[in-house]
Amino acid sequence: MSHRILLLGAPGAGKGTQSAKLADAYGVEHVTTGDALRANKDMETEYGTPRSFMEAGELVPDPVVNEIVEAAIGDADGFVLDGYPRNLDQAEYLSEITDLDAVILLDVDEEVLVDRLTGRRVCDDCGANYHVDFQPPEEPGVCDECGGELIQREDDTEETARERLDVFYDNTEPVIDHFRDEGVLVEVDGEATPDEVFARIRDVVES
Ligand code: AP5
Repeated sequence: MSHRILLLGAPGAGKGTQSAKLADAYGVEHVTTGDALRANKDMETEYGTPRSFMEAGELVPDPVVNEIVEAAIGDADGFVLDGYPRNLDQAEYLSEITDLDAVILLDVDEEVLVDRLTGRRVCDDCGANYHVDFQPPEEPGVCDECGGELIQREDDTEETARERLDVFYDNTEPVIDHFRDEGVLVEVDGEATPDEVFARIRDVVES
């Protein structure tokens, strides 16, 4: 069975955490526009660099992101897509380049989202994700996996996190409504431990 899984959710809902687990479990590509853009923050495009949009919590222009997704999905047999589509135009583009086997929304309350975002720390070397309270490293400030330094993402300040949530409500909720209207959206309660949330998602994918 092919696994072409789309994981939707607000900033901080746990898309990155769960997508990595799913990609591992099913041996498929983890396609994440956020990571791809962070790796190419200073790339010159006709709209400016991705950095200028990301640091303001705004969406990077569609043509830049569409190209990244099309190249990453390519002819892949399976993938977990995280961070895309974020508006209806991107959703339309996605439907032109691939079919999906599962569309899952991670539901998390807004104040929990803000706590998760402002407490997140990421490894500067390997990109592993931590949280100062919910998923602390064994030694504060040091990555368990590679010993790298843990840093706060530039867009994880409370002000930018709230801006990103506003962008999500304005642009991405219509995408969620679109999949809900099509009858393909499955909502999963994202407020539990990462392992419990993963078990819930797995049940959906395998049912
Ligand atoms: P992106 O990197 O995609 O950020 P996001 O959607 O805002 O999502 P996050 O990475 O912040 O959160 P997440 O849901 O992955 O949660 P995570 O698992 O890390 O995008 C960043 C920027 O890039 C955008 O603002 C935009 O500028 C640009 N961009 C990206 N895609 C784009 C697109 N398609 N179009 C245009 N622009 C685009 O978890 C968060 C924290 O919570 C972590 O600390 C984690 O440890 C913790 N946590 C996770 N799960 C749990 C749990 N179950 N319990 C307790 N803590 C948990």
